[in-house]
Amino acid sequence: MPDTHNVVTETAGAVGIITVNRPDKRNALDGAIRTALLAAFDRLQHDDAVRCVVLTGAGTKAFVSGADINEFVGKTPHDILKALLQSPSIFDAADAFPKPLIAMINGYALGSGLELAMACDIRIASETARLGQPEVNLGMMPGGGATQRLPRLVGLGNAFKLLYTGQIIDAQEALAIGLVDEVVPAGELKSRAMLLAGMIASKSATALSLIKEAIRASVRAPLDDGVRHEASLTSVLFSTKDMAEGIQAFLEKRQPRFHQP
Ligand code: COA
Repeated sequence: MPDTHNVVTETAGAVGIITVNRPDKRNALDGAIRTALLAAFDRLQHDDAVRCVVLTGAGTKAFVSGADINEFVGKTPHDILKALLQSPSIFDAADAFPKPLIAMINGYALGSGLELAMACDIRIASETARLGQPEVNLGMMPGGGATQRLPRLVGLGNAFKLLYTGQIIDAQEALAIGLVDEVVPAGELKSRAMLLAGMIASKSATALSLIKEAIRASVRAPLDDGVRHEASLTSVLFSTKDMAEGIQAFLEKRQPRFHQP
């Protein structure tokens, strides 16, 4: 599978792994990395052998430490608006990625790094992870969705606290407020993330993508519309070979074999 040096894409069975690879700069996101990330999402989206993806950062210190601050120097409001409204952004691409996407947070997840993790479906952090939105310390505010996704994940008060103070919190506190979903010792992070990803990847790809679509609707649509959307997605699954196989396997008291051509 093709790689660029700053974003590495690998596969292990049905699990894809995307690694932001700029450890000497704590995996800060520059323009080249954003472009490479979009390409990696696109590649894995179209790789039918990949059914779940893990996103992480290279090294032991950082997931992603935020936007590359050097790139802000000399920028005008027009430049920034144009960059932020680029479509799709890496945050849109992660959010709309049609397969399960797990952020494996192996260190600092700050600014755009935390925004990227929040756009993933599930966040697993190592005990050494540190998370925050420190933009306010630079006289800035987040532009990659934190003002919208953070309150949805942790509630208004916690979101205000994190965005007003720029405070960086540890993994246990992030777990307590719902910012991450699991915390594991650093040495076990990869095996746990891959175990979870493998478990997910063993399910029906169609069911997974429709579950994702329905859950995404839950934060966008009014309840009644979301429930109706769920009903139509559920009915679609009754036309799939995977669902026929799942039911048959249950009746025959065996494990299902999904993804048969
Ligand atoms: N943008 C650009 N460069 C960054 C960066 C970022 N977001 N985060 C880290 N780096 C660079 C540092 O400038 C340093 O470069 P140098 O070796 O050329 O001096 C290198 O990465 C290592 O960083 P350092 O601060 O020495 O590592 P650390 O482990 O002591 O601290 C952080 C790590 C992430 C806590 C710290 O680098 C930091 O606070 N970064 C900025 C985070 C931020 O504000 N993000 C939001 C941006 S809007």
